[in-house]
Amino acid sequence: MKIFLSGIQPSGALHLGNYFGAMQPAIEMQNQGQAVYFIADYHALTSVAKADDLRRYTFDVAAGFLACGLDPQRTILFRQSDVPQVHELAWLLSVVTPMGLLERAHSYKDKVAQGAETTHGLFAYPVLMAADILLYNSDCVPVGKDQKQHLEIARDIAQKFNDRFGSVFKIPEPMIRETTAIVPGIDGRKMSKSYNNTLELFGEDKVLEKRIMGIPTNSTPVADPKPVEGSILAQLMQTVATPAQYETYVGKMKTGGVGYGDLKKELAAVTKEFLAPFKKKFQTFKERPDEVEAILRDGAIRARTLAAPVLEAARKATGLSR
Ligand code: ADP
Ligand code: TRP
Repeated sequence: MKIFLSGIQPSGALHLGNYFGAMQPAIEMQNQGQAVYFIADYHALTSVAKADDLRRYTFDVAAGFLACGLDPQRTILFRQSDVPQVHELAWLLSVVTPMGLLERAHSYKDKVAQGAETTHGLFAYPVLMAADILLYNSDCVPVGKDQKQHLEIARDIAQKFNDRFGSVFKIPEPMIRETTAIVPGIDGRKMSKSYNNTLELFGEDKVLEKRIMGIPTNSTPVADPKPVEGSILAQLMQTVATPAQYETYVGKMKTGGVGYGDLKKELAAVTKEFLAPFKKKFQTFKERPDEVEAILRDGAIRARTLAAPVLEAARKATGLSR
């Protein structure tokens, strides 16, 4: 059975962009092989500064995936830091990783360009990610476009290790979700926690309504038709509504007679309706944190079982083990 592996950083509150861009596709893939998903808390430490935040975001990602339909029986869901062996592998990989490969990484270069204080953790981020991918013998790594280069780096590192020490690692196939539409934020840019333009999956309804009511619109009179092309309201509606609901909505926009205030209210109502079942399940997990913890621990045990022979083979190949 093919192993699909992916990680998500617990670095902020989950939003609609995360759901449609990463969570829903990952959950759908549970049926196609052995899915191995982890919460990349070591990676998140490169940006999350407070321990309480990291703990909360980690719990929320776990409970969020479970609430949105991840089946912990079938899928191995675990916390990256529950398998610290990944750091041993990261070191073995780092000795074959050329500096130039990491210096060319866009995510690192972007942070440098933004003037952020850079750290060794940020620089070595792709090596740890390569270790994540290789440690669990994954066949396939489904990720969003933004992770494409990190995956290429992981493949390069695996190849370099195999060339030097013998064929230890399977070279994983990237699976880039090119087709996933970018969910716009309330300001029209890509929805992203770094732009503070998100609609949270598990936030308060009042906040959700307020943010939707604040979406900028032009001053087209109520009676006139509203442009659908380029409309943030229509794009968001398309992500959360059923096709029939969406058709009715754009129909109203095209005909006119409905003001932006009412269109926003309708979007808020449909978004709440879409999120309601997820929120309900999320709440039950919030009330039973021990259950989530038990699922993560069980996931870590299964993940360690996959990891042990791979790490041992790498140790042997390098001369660390007899
Ligand atoms: P953020 O942009 O809020 O920092 P992340 O980079 O942590 O989000 O997102 C994790 C994954 O969620 C991304 O790799 C991407 O696949 C998906 N994602 C995030 N924002 C969006 C969006 N606006 N539209 C579609 N997918 C998204
Ligand atoms: N870097 C990924 C992101 O920000 C998260 C991640 C860490 C990951 N390790 C991984 C994704 C291994 C896939 C495979 O989205």
